[in-house]
Amino acid sequence: MKAPPGPRGHWLLGSLPERRHDALGFYERIHREYGDVVGFRLGTVPVVMLCHPDHVKHVLIDHADRYGKGGMPARLRPVLGNGLLTSEGEFWLRQRRLMQPAFHRESLARLAGLIGRCVEVHLARTNEGEVDIAEEMLDLTLAVASKALFGADLGEMAADVGPALEVALAESNRRLLALFDVPLAIPTPANLRLRRAIGALDRVVFEIIEQRRTGRSSGTDLLTLLIEARDEKTGAAMDDRQLRDEVMTLFLAGHETTASALAWLCHLLAWHPDEQEWMRAGGEARCQMALQEAMRLYPPAWGIPRSARVDDEIGGYAVRKGTLVFVSTWVVHRHPAFWPEPEKFDPDRFAEKPPRHAYIPFGAGQRTCIGGSFAMMESLIAISALLKRFRIHAVPGRAPQPLPLVVLRAKDGIRVRLTRS
Ligand code: HEM
Repeated sequence: MKAPPGPRGHWLLGSLPERRHDALGFYERIHREYGDVVGFRLGTVPVVMLCHPDHVKHVLIDHADRYGKGGMPARLRPVLGNGLLTSEGEFWLRQRRLMQPAFHRESLARLAGLIGRCVEVHLARTNEGEVDIAEEMLDLTLAVASKALFGADLGEMAADVGPALEVALAESNRRLLALFDVPLAIPTPANLRLRRAIGALDRVVFEIIEQRRTGRSSGTDLLTLLIEARDEKTGAAMDDRQLRDEVMTLFLAGHETTASALAWLCHLLAWHPDEQEWMRAGGEARCQMALQEAMRLYPPAWGIPRSARVDDEIGGYAVRKGTLVFVSTWVVHRHPAFWPEPEKFDPDRFAEKPPRHAYIPFGAGQRTCIGGSFAMMESLIAISALLKRFRIHAVPGRAPQPLPLVVLRAKDGIRVRLTRS
């Protein structure tokens, strides 16, 4: 069986230089030149990029057992411990079953009021004028995540949580993207900063868990739901350490991704004022279509990496054990066979169901995002409230440049102008 076609790249570095220069442009180009299955090297690591919905289904759904999470869990474990994002196998499955009910629509509906109030408080402090909406949305989703996860009773501890979470997030990003993994035990300045932040977060999380367990406080937040969760078969609950790992995971997985979705939506709306009117008139259904379309063009999780556990065949090509298999959400969402005029912002596409496995902002299969409904609910509450208060205008000049870090960011932020509506 033949190897997938692709760029040869540099003899030693492979395609690293090209990818570093403009990763998203590189993926789009090699898809155009070589097709739906493309092989290349990043340094010594063999990579196969997948862009076709059938291959998304192959790797994430039909043969998910052949593909693991590779080196990612080890890099994030110092921060996240053994939470849903970093665990695998039996342990992951048990935790996923245990936590799933907390993320069902009915459970989440109980959080809607809390989120709505949090958004209102935040927007009441937002002024007219030019803003970096990417920063604004990070602040907003930080406030929402802290409230929704830990509840309203952070009290004096609140001041410690925000900054510590920001450090944990920034350092996790750095660890994931770094070429080498420096063990947390080595006292580099970055590691010391991270250790302090983790210490502060641990204190807060363990204190709140203790308060709930001893009945000194109660809440409708996710932490409460997780404390109350029981294994269907054994009746077992999570211990404090596991609760801490899961809460930290939910925070890190949910905060920056949701902020990114909202920020790119605001960018698109700034350039499409008519759409803002339709959303004001069309209510939640229209807002949902615009949000879905924004996540098609700017998927916060712009790619889904896996590592081949065994030799496999995809689309007639050999994929060797150990290959980094990269589902390119960015390219799948622009595949011309499934998305006519792919670069056009057109929320009406989502009047119908999208083509199967061609729309994967939350992944697919067993490891699909557990927080998808939460993210949709939060984003819809936030964008509706924002459009009620403000009109979003474009700031002429350079368009924001997508920057694919762990989550899709914009290189120099996303500047828009807000006026009261
Ligand atoms: C727009 C916002 C979001 C996007 C685009 C997003 C995207 C994703 C994607 C693509 C995956 C699958 C990763 C893979 O298969 O390797 C994932 C997993 C995950 N997400 Fe999200 N996510 C979002 C919001 C959230 C929120 C709000 C939470 C928590 C409240 C969350 C928690 C998680 C967790 C725990 C996992 C791991 C699930 C598992 O492996 O069982 N996400 N997310």
